[in-house]
Amino acid sequence: MKPDFSVLNRENIVAFIGDIFERRGDEEYLGEPVTMAEHMLQGATIAEQNGQAEEIIVGALLHDIGHFTSEFGTYHPDDTEDRHHEDAGAEVLEQFFPSVITDCCRYHVAAKRYLCATKPEYFARLSTASVHTLELQGGPMNDDEIAAFEENPNLKEIIQVRYLDEAGKRADMATPDFTHFAPMVQRMVDRHMGTA
Ligand SMILES: [Fe+2]
Repeated sequence: MKPDFSVLNRENIVAFIGDIFERRGDEEYLGEPVTMAEHMLQGATIAEQNGQAEEIIVGALLHDIGHFTSEFGTYHPDDTEDRHHEDAGAEVLEQFFPSVITDCCRYHVAAKRYLCATKPEYFARLSTASVHTLELQGGPMNDDEIAAFEENPNLKEIIQVRYLDEAGKRADMATPDFTHFAPMVQRMVDRHMGTA
C-alpha cells in the first residue's frame, strides 16, 4: 500500500520518521550484519562522535529512508535491477528538509559510483553486498558523469554521508535510538520550513 504523504506536515514528520524506525527498523539491510535502523543510527552516531555538522548527522540518519517506502520493496541479493530507493527517499524528504539533506539521500548511490571512479582506495572499503549493488547501479562513473556530479553545491556533504554509509555496517556497535536525534531532525525541518 502506498503511504499517504499528504497528511504529513512539519509538526508530525519527525514522529512519522521515528515511527518508521521503530516499526520497520529491524528489517535486514542489504545482506549486511546490521539492521536498517542500526545502519542509519550508526552512521549518525559516528558523525556525532566526530563532531560533524548537524546536516551531516541528519543526512546519515535519513539517507536510506527510501528503503522503508513499501511501494519500492526491499533489496534482495537476486535482484537484477536497481530499485532506486534513493529517489523514493528523496521524494519524501524534499518536502520537509533542506536540499543538503535531500541530496545526501538522493545521491548516496551516485556518490558510491563517483568515489569508485575517482578514489581507487575507496573501492576496497565496500562490503560484498555493496560491490554487488554497484554493478546494478551502473558501475563507476564515466568522465562526463563525474564532471556533472561535481557541479552539485552539496558535493562535500554528499561525500561525507557516503563515507558514513560505509562506516555504519558494524556488527557490534551500540548507538542511541532515534529519539536521541529527533530534536536535531526537527531543527533541520524548521530550518527548511520555518517555525511559525
Ligand atoms: Fe546506506
